[in-house]
Amino acid sequence: MKSTAKDYRHIQFCDDRTQVDIEQLQTLFKLAAFWARERCTEDLEIAVANSNPIVTAWDGEQMIGFARATSDGIYRATIWDVVIHPDYQGGGLGRKLVQTLISHPLMCRVERVYLMTTYQQKFYERIGFEYNESTTMVLYNQPLESLPRTEEIPVEQTANAVSVGG
Ligand SMILES: CC(C)(COP(=O)(O)OP(=O)(O)OC[C@H]1O[C@@H](n2cnc3c(N)ncnc32)[C@H](O)[C@@H]1OP(=O)(O)O)[C@@H](O)C(=O)NCCC(=O)NCCS
Repeated sequence: MKSTAKDYRHIQFCDDRTQVDIEQLQTLFKLAAFWARERCTEDLEIAVANSNPIVTAWDGEQMIGFARATSDGIYRATIWDVVIHPDYQGGGLGRKLVQTLISHPLMCRVERVYLMTTYQQKFYERIGFEYNESTTMVLYNQPLESLPRTEEIPVEQTANAVSVGG
């Protein structure tokens, strides 16, 4: 009998952040990421520029998977925006995407890796993540559209913000 399981051996994973295709990322988010459907390309470029590592999955020229993290390289890291194109889900690519991300040199020595998920707890459990109810707080900033664009913030103001935070 012929197997109906899809063969994904040709899918390539890439951890070069400069290879992210912003237009394709926007399309992928519109299709499969309910929390990120409205994101514009300008803001996605900012998110990509400030995230490291980033892993993408490719079927030839088509970007069919994306995951990013922010990490201090030693103590804490957080994973964001994990997505596999709907046509490619259920074949182990999501697992490989996250495993590639957490194997990156900026992630693999980090003491704790966090993530937030609304519906995919079971998926992350399969990869080794555990429930953690003790660390969930959030600050809701103003809606993005009401904030000045990064280039509109006076230099003195950003310098102050850095010295306060440090
Ligand atoms: C979540 C997502 C990335 C998973 O990718 P995927 O390629 O479909 O998942 P995989 O095939 O690699 O699944 C790995 C394992 O998790 C299990 N799994 C995946 N999704 C699951 C779910 N929703 N519920 C229970 N188990 C799930 C799989 O059965 C598989 O189990 P196995 O260890 O027995 O083989 C993908 O479904 C997706 O992009 N969803 C939409 C976006 C999203 O919700 N992202 C997560 C945001 S936090």
